[in-house]
Amino acid sequence: MGFAVSACAAFVAALVGFAVTGATSVVAGLLALSMILAGVTLAAWSHVLSPTESAVEERSQHGPRQSRRQMFLRFGMGAAALTAVGVGGCAAQRIDRSVAALRTTRWRDGVEVVDSDGEPVVIDRIGDGETLTVYPRGAVGSIDSQGILVREPIDRFAPDAIESGAMVDGVAIFSKLCTHMGCSLGLYQQGTGTLLCPCHQAVFDALDVGRAVSGPARRALPWLPFRRADDGRLVATGDFTDAVGAGFWWRP
Ligand code: FES
Repeated sequence: MGFAVSACAAFVAALVGFAVTGATSVVAGLLALSMILAGVTLAAWSHVLSPTESAVEERSQHGPRQSRRQMFLRFGMGAAALTAVGVGGCAAQRIDRSVAALRTTRWRDGVEVVDSDGEPVVIDRIGDGETLTVYPRGAVGSIDSQGILVREPIDRFAPDAIESGAMVDGVAIFSKLCTHMGCSLGLYQQGTGTLLCPCHQAVFDALDVGRAVSGPARRALPWLPFRRADDGRLVATGDFTDAVGAGFWWRP
């Protein structure tokens, strides 16, 4: 009976921890789950260390003192179980926030596209077949936010690039971080319209929404939604379409 009550208390506390932390990521969920198990294990341990209620115990002069010791032991174990769940919940919440931070960059709706000197990128100054490393204004040099702009004649782009909005007036902007292990893409082959990763030779189709064509990368390059302002400057309309860089452990 004592064990059942302790285990139920730990489980309910764990559920409350889940609800309070709002854990959504796999790691945070696993951590919270491990804390649930830790709490239940502590509750079970407190039961093992104390005799069952139906056990026959001989009276002795130390009887009352021993029962107090058992009571304190149970309380201690229960408190430890709740603490474990609480600590796990807090840690899960922190991990959850960190994972969320990994999914976002400095690009936002209305942020201007600039080059590595911080100068605005004007579409008419970029020739066909050219590429340019770009950043959000105010975040030049940011690794996560860096993008690679590709300009080609509109009729070279695949229908998906046009329909999705990834291409605007012959320009497409992708995350510059390879989706295999996060190396920086540096080489553009104009003949095929592909971006190459120097680390393990992943190839991405810049004319077809960054599709992974060959090599170890399985995920397409995230692309940046943007618009062309009246004066020809480029302005983002949101963040990259997906988390940049290497894939997380639950997906390729
Ligand atoms: S990091 Fe780009 S192919 Fe491995």
